[in-house]
Amino acid sequence: MTILPIESRKTSQIRFTLNGEETDVSFAPYKTLLEVLREDLGHTGTKHGCELGECGACAVLLDGKPVLSCLVLALECGGKQILTVEGLGEDGNLHPLQDAFADLGAAQCGYCTPAILVTAKALLDQNPHPTRDQIREAISGNLCRCTGYLQIFEAVEAAMLKIALRNVDCAARARTATQEGACRMKRIREQRPLTLQRPTETDSA
Ligand code: FES
Ligand code: FES
Repeated sequence: MTILPIESRKTSQIRFTLNGEETDVSFAPYKTLLEVLREDLGHTGTKHGCELGECGACAVLLDGKPVLSCLVLALECGGKQILTVEGLGEDGNLHPLQDAFADLGAAQCGYCTPAILVTAKALLDQNPHPTRDQIREAISGNLCRCTGYLQIFEAVEAAMLKIALRNVDCAARARTATQEGACRMKRIREQRPLTLQRPTETDSA
């Protein structure tokens, strides 16, 4: 009889949505979400730190809320939505938070950065205009040994402004598109009045 090493006993299987994609994964039942993401799915953007719930490096979003993936059993995640740093960008572009962190030197060694980015995203999704104190509180569980946090707070504030400007721009473009669409429909109606013609007896003969 062959005895498989314990790592090979992938006897559990779940389906969840990972960064917007339906994902099936098999894994050993004792594994945490962090281990399954990194070891079974190759998503190494989420970092492995203390494994004790103290450093915050492993944070991901579970159904939109930040959790420490080293403290969550993967088995608990069936049917859930998981977002990691790999899923943060949109349409091939960096998320405004990623842009702002790069522009303002808020990522230095970068080990804490993926977790802080997703945690800040959860904050901005829930509260688009947080105060400095609210930002400080939201990321208080994420340790950063490099930046002293000031650049991180400033980058979250810069991203907040970028997102607000983008939303204003989108709303203005949607308004313009609606007005243009209404004008076009009006022109079409004026040029081609809709006339219903009843069939005549000659037509049906
Ligand atoms: S690895 Fe440190 S809190 Fe999860
Ligand atoms: S940038 Fe190095 S730990 Fe935060």
